[in-house]
Amino acid sequence: MKKSRNRPVAIDLFAGAGGLTEGLEQAGIWPAVAVELHPQPSLTHAFNHPNTTLIAGDIRKLSLKLLRQKLVERTGRAEVDLVAGGPPCQGFSTAGKKEAHDPRNSLFFQFVNVVAEFKPRMFLLENVPGFKKMHGGAAFHEASRLFTDLGYQLVDTVVEAFRFGIPQRRQRFVMVGWLPGKAKPFQWPEPTHGAIDADVLPLFPTQLLPLVTVEQAISDLAFVEPGWEARRQGLPVESSFQEDRRAGCDLLFNHLASRHREKAVTMFSHIDEGRTISMVPEEHRSAKRTMARLNRKSISNTVLALPDDLIHYEQHRIPTVREMARFQSFDDDFVFIGKRTSGFMERRFDVPQYTQVGNAVPPLLARALGLALQRSLGGKIEDIRAIKERRARHSWVRGTSGFAGYTLSPEAEGKLALFDVDGKPIPLPTSDTDLAVVDAARQHEWKNQTDTRKRGQWSPGVAKPSARMKARRGIRGRAANGP
Ligand SMILES: C[S@@+](CC[C@H](N)C(=O)[O-])C[C@H]1O[C@@H](n2cnc3c(N)ncnc32)[C@H](O)[C@@H]1O
Repeated sequence: MKKSRNRPVAIDLFAGAGGLTEGLEQAGIWPAVAVELHPQPSLTHAFNHPNTTLIAGDIRKLSLKLLRQKLVERTGRAEVDLVAGGPPCQGFSTAGKKEAHDPRNSLFFQFVNVVAEFKPRMFLLENVPGFKKMHGGAAFHEASRLFTDLGYQLVDTVVEAFRFGIPQRRQRFVMVGWLPGKAKPFQWPEPTHGAIDADVLPLFPTQLLPLVTVEQAISDLAFVEPGWEARRQGLPVESSFQEDRRAGCDLLFNHLASRHREKAVTMFSHIDEGRTISMVPEEHRSAKRTMARLNRKSISNTVLALPDDLIHYEQHRIPTVREMARFQSFDDDFVFIGKRTSGFMERRFDVPQYTQVGNAVPPLLARALGLALQRSLGGKIEDIRAIKERRARHSWVRGTSGFAGYTLSPEAEGKLALFDVDGKPIPLPTSDTDLAVVDAARQHEWKNQTDTRKRGQWSPGVAKPSARMKARRGIRGRAANGP
């Protein structure tokens, strides 16, 4: 993509599969460089965003010099207009362990370091809704102090995704900062869609659009039976949301239905539409405490990194990755690469497709925030995604969205802008064996083993899976088939 005076340039940190990048691009902001730790979301990001250079690795090992070098190579400029990103939230999440000493919390300060180095005209930091209050507000107050010392004016709020046309209950904390004189004061985007509760509706202006329901989000996607995959949407479009997500793309990826054990199916069958696991008689319950069947006439429950809390409104199965992606407002041409899911043990290291979707900022929410940022930055509002190029890449996708997941054909080698934290190009995994060993976090576990693989190696020292890991994969194989 050419640089342009009217096209604000951004850096996306902790970029995941790229929900935030996707929405910013739709608003005309160019995330020219992104940083993400895990190989699988990095692959997804690089595959779907041909205009972004993706640095895959631990941000703590990345020098600011290399970050700037990649920015200059990509844009011809050494400055950015925006630094955006969501440092990992587990340490701050109300759903996770609220440990003040969780080392991941310090990743948050990596974000501050990049802002301090580049002094962008604006920054956008997103996180879990509990961010502001966590640890008695310590992280929030420290962040506010650091950003204020750097000269930024700050605003923060908690945004509701469904108010921006996303068919899902999902709240995010967002903080925006701007440098007075370099960007206009930031104004939050106005909600476009109505309230969740009909009783509350009269409080909102009538021009708000109705909420997008679960049915309006996914009813055009084939009702795949467990174990089956559909490569076309298969059913007629029934809403403008569906039409927008298809946007003329009739090839479908990531739409494979999990095969569940009989016990799980029995458990699902006791839960009526819109109701929870509390309906299941004690003798048919598993250890799970949270599970709900989607209500087709309402918005979806929050899409989480683990897929097994939700059941399809008609079928006795969890939603497919594609259905989850629709609840997150990803377009159908956006392909999630890597393993579809992973077992209990490996979820500590792995970022398979379901997790990539669940971790993402919904693109439509990112777009709404991007449009608001554009009002301050004065950039041209246009969709700058490389849609044609992305779709041409669809022919590189190999495998099924089944357990083994998607890899890329050797044809893709050297064509994704994907680098490690030392700036070296990363070879692509082109087989599922490669995929099974690419997880950077596992390198630590396997550091004493020797690498005997010839290709698809993400970095030196990644070992062939041990017998123990293979055995684990057996466990994972079963778990992948559902709860
Ligand atoms: C909440 S997700 C971000 C989602 C992303 N903004 C999107 O919209 O798709 C946080 C991401 O931070 C990444 N991450 C965690 N530790 C990191 C590190 N040390 N360096 C770089 N990225 C890291 C995680 O792998 C994860 O993908």
